[in-house]
Amino acid sequence: MQYRITTSPGLEDLAALEIYRRLDATGLSGEVTEKPFGLAGNLLLRIPPASVPDLELHARLTAVLHELKLAFHVVHHVHETLLPGSPDLASLCDAVAEVSLPGCGPEQSFRVSSLRQGMHEFTSLDIEREAGSVVQKETGMSVDLEKFDRHVRVDLLDSRLLVGLQTTRRGLDKRYTWVYKPRVSLKTVVARGLLELASQGLDEVSRIFDPFCGSGTILLEAADMFPKASIAGSDLFEKVVDGARANIATAGLSERVTVRQADARDLRRELPAASVDMIVSNPPFGVRLGPRTDFKRLYHQFLTGASHVLRPGGQLVFLGGRRRHHVVHVLREVRSLSLKHVRVIETGGIYPAVYVMTRLP
Ligand SMILES: C[S@@+](CC[C@H](N)C(=O)[O-])C[C@H]1O[C@@H](n2cnc3c(N)ncnc32)[C@H](O)[C@@H]1O
Repeated sequence: MQYRITTSPGLEDLAALEIYRRLDATGLSGEVTEKPFGLAGNLLLRIPPASVPDLELHARLTAVLHELKLAFHVVHHVHETLLPGSPDLASLCDAVAEVSLPGCGPEQSFRVSSLRQGMHEFTSLDIEREAGSVVQKETGMSVDLEKFDRHVRVDLLDSRLLVGLQTTRRGLDKRYTWVYKPRVSLKTVVARGLLELASQGLDEVSRIFDPFCGSGTILLEAADMFPKASIAGSDLFEKVVDGARANIATAGLSERVTVRQADARDLRRELPAASVDMIVSNPPFGVRLGPRTDFKRLYHQFLTGASHVLRPGGQLVFLGGRRRHHVVHVLREVRSLSLKHVRVIETGGIYPAVYVMTRLP
């Protein structure tokens, strides 16, 4: 049995660790491949044959996988094949007709979705329509694009055809009710990834801070990940602070998560020295702030303040824009922060860098 799981490109290793952790906790075992078929942002989980019936195992696995915090969707991967030559719709449909889709019969309704990558003389909409007719004929299921029982995935990556059944309805990242959601808000999966990186190597996390908190995505994820920690955030603008507070209140977390209005360029004024275990943040990127913003100065002020409020051994993780040289330059001056790790991720069509730093003793 195999499952394909999607995450943010660049966070595959963290998602793999989470899958192993959750399988372990429920006594299940499996093997995870990152970026299967060269697909960034994907993982393939292979489950060895078990003594329990497939249906029962599938129900247990989907229950576990639907708890993942570092994933968007889960697809029960049913079939994979290489189409000969340069694929056309007819050969794709022939291949789909050969696939036996478990649990699909005349009493069910379905829809087909397709992800297509590479050069083809047809679109993903063509695949959805043509493969849809084949699935309808082979299984007897009726088409219902809105209230479907089965979500059939027919993905084509160059010549490689992947067929599966998506088990998730809404994205797993849609886990909060947003009263306030600005365009710049972070994806929950990315917020979780930043928190995972910040916690690696820390044995105690009781105080977490996000000084550019926006709508509060990192704060909400932190509250879920560290149920005993005290969590605080701040933002420069009153309207944003009000919005974050509303989101936190809606999640029922106002007792444990506080937000105030403050300038992240002046953290020394806001918090006592060595009072925080982890700073996890998403400062403005610059994509929308324009070329005149002085990022070097912003990073200098933010990192100087962060090194003051972090306890020795504490960790700072933040998402930065394309101006990586500014961060490197600032770190030459802020000597008490040591850069542990940098990685580039993809989110919303842009490629920011994640910086992981430790506060030296
Ligand atoms: C990229 S957004 C953060 C988005 C947030 N992670 C979310 O999920 O909504 C950056 C935030 O930094 C805030 N900001 C900009 N300059 C600031 C400063 N000097 N001090 C504190 N906050 C600032 C902006 O108001 C904005 O909400």
